[in-house]
Amino acid sequence: MTGYLQGKNIVVTGAGNGIGRAIALGCASAGANVVVADYGVSLDGSDPSSVVADSVVAEIEAAGGTALALASDISTMEGGAAAVQAAVDTWGSIDGAVCVAGILRERMIFNMTEEEFDDVIRVHLKGHFTVYKHASAIMRKQDTGGSLVGVTSGAFTGSTSQANYSAAKGGVVSLTKSAALALKRYGVNANCIAPSARTRMSENVPFEIEAGEPDDVAPLAVFLLGDTARHITAQIYTVIGPRISVWAQFGEVRSMFAPGGASWTPEGIEEALPRAIGTEEHPTMALLAQREAERQTSQAKT
Ligand SMILES: NC(=O)c1ccc[n+]([C@@H]2O[C@H](COP(=O)([O-])OP(=O)(O)OC[C@H]3O[C@@H](n4cnc5c(N)ncnc54)[C@H](O)[C@@H]3O)[C@@H](O)[C@H]2O)c1
Repeated sequence: MTGYLQGKNIVVTGAGNGIGRAIALGCASAGANVVVADYGVSLDGSDPSSVVADSVVAEIEAAGGTALALASDISTMEGGAAAVQAAVDTWGSIDGAVCVAGILRERMIFNMTEEEFDDVIRVHLKGHFTVYKHASAIMRKQDTGGSLVGVTSGAFTGSTSQANYSAAKGGVVSLTKSAALALKRYGVNANCIAPSARTRMSENVPFEIEAGEPDDVAPLAVFLLGDTARHITAQIYTVIGPRISVWAQFGEVRSMFAPGGASWTPEGIEEALPRAIGTEEHPTMALLAQREAERQTSQAKT
């Protein structure tokens, strides 16, 4: 990746661990100056520390790169502004931002507390807004535009025990697509990466998942931040190990119209909907049914 981002100034949030660390190292080895923005918290967002941000900066510098550490909470407006301003104050501009910071508070929706919901939405979703807002305000005034990269998850389509996380990641998709639409005319692109990689966040998933390594994610982030990808915007790319997939743009798939342009009645819909437009089963429903059948079989045996 040497030289791919030569001279660019990039903020990476959540850069102290896992996927963010791999992206920060990838950006630095591609020639970028990197703000390593990480609050240094545990998986649930507690116990902040500056140690991880400092150690990633030390790694980058030891490899001959340029980076600075910022251990601020990017879910606050001040934290997002500070991360962007650090790049501008130190190196003169902000060319890209990758929002990787995240926490987990898993719980079934009926047991989830308000705090568990709010904290996850705040770190993931607001943590993108604080950076996008401050970065785009500067990027739109630069001749060179810029790049925003959000980190979502396949879980944005729904997740049994992570309603807060799923909602936050769905919000990241909508926020990023909105940024892409608003910023196109200013030469700023905005895309999402949906990774799956072995990190402390993924190690407790109670079933088998397809996962690669954090280093597999970095080249896609570097590409999306580069000049040759500037025309690519409002996309979601999955990256897992050697596989990169693009998601469909969302849209309605089938429509039906009330006869004679009248309004529908519930009875009319009951009669027409199943054969005219039907339903699309959520892809996870079949998996849940299979797990339930397995659970019942093993319960019957005991
Ligand atoms: N690991 C996976 O398989 C996977 C799958 C889908 C999505 N993701 C997403 O990728 C991102 C990175 O995940 P990871 O697995 O590398 O997790 P990780 O726990 O290894 O790293 C997350 C980092 O974010 C930092 N952070 C948390 N709250 C912060 C805050 N308020 N301000 C600044 N920094 C903060 C943490 O200190 C930590 O260093 C997350 O957004 C996660 O949701 C990961």
